[in-house]
Amino acid sequence: MASQSHSPAVPSLPFGRFANGPSVPFGARGRSVIMHAMRPLIIAANWKMNTTSADAGELAATIAARTEEPGVIRVICPPFVCLSAVRDALVGKGVAVGAQNVHHELAGAYTGEISAAMLDGLATWVILGHSERRRDAHETDELIGKKLARAISSGLRPILCVGELLAEREAGRAVEIVADQLRGALAGKDPEALVGAGFVIAYEPVWAIGTGRTASSADAAAMADAIRSTLAADLGWGQAAESVPILYGGSVTSANIGEFLGEPSIDGGLVGGASLKPDEMAGMVARAALVARTRAQDKGVR
Ligand code: PGA
Repeated sequence: MASQSHSPAVPSLPFGRFANGPSVPFGARGRSVIMHAMRPLIIAANWKMNTTSADAGELAATIAARTEEPGVIRVICPPFVCLSAVRDALVGKGVAVGAQNVHHELAGAYTGEISAAMLDGLATWVILGHSERRRDAHETDELIGKKLARAISSGLRPILCVGELLAEREAGRAVEIVADQLRGALAGKDPEALVGAGFVIAYEPVWAIGTGRTASSADAAAMADAIRSTLAADLGWGQAAESVPILYGGSVTSANIGEFLGEPSIDGGLVGGASLKPDEMAGMVARAALVARTRAQDKGVR
């Protein structure tokens, strides 16, 4: 958006630059391996329907002060009515502000809705297709795809949420469901435009959200791999798929985030309940910073 730098928290990590990363000879035995895409570490706070404009700014400022770590993109997504308080509290703090949803049209007879134009100057990121909106507002993949297009054309950096229900996982259909969600929202969209806009995917198994139960890190990593395969093969993204950060979400805390970030295919967390607690945010961002340092050192070697 014009009035705010696009991603104030970005520690100058490039997007898209490695979209077609070369295959280079590497390693002692001269094996050819694909160079690591330089994906950033991201901790995104989804405050959902919590906080008021009276207390959101103070909470955001406290979290910002407790999470000053290099190499991690921090994003806080408060309710719409708290956006201006949070934006004001975060000026100069290197923490980005996100909305939790946006309408696909820019203006019109849509009672109760918020457009991208209204977010100008308030938010630079947006969460799209969260399972609570799929469940409560009956958002479809097609609609989410339209919102995604609007976000990109408006300069909002999108986090697209995907994830299966418990019954779907138990039936062995988790990958199929997530691949359908991706195809439904992304078919026909230009990978370069998406990667250029800093497109992020959050894998959030619905049964893990707010339940205290998480996916295993191995299952989350397998899904991240399946997501990138779907982008690369089904949707024709090729190597650009490697540039897309994939977050895990669902009962993430400072105690368990290390397991997820231990998986090279997972690049951060979309955090609900624990993101309202400064201690928890401090722990999660500190762990992400550690992982960011290690990954930077290992860059290029798999
Ligand atoms: P949770 O929510 O961390 O409270 O499970 C995550 C989310 O819904 O994004």
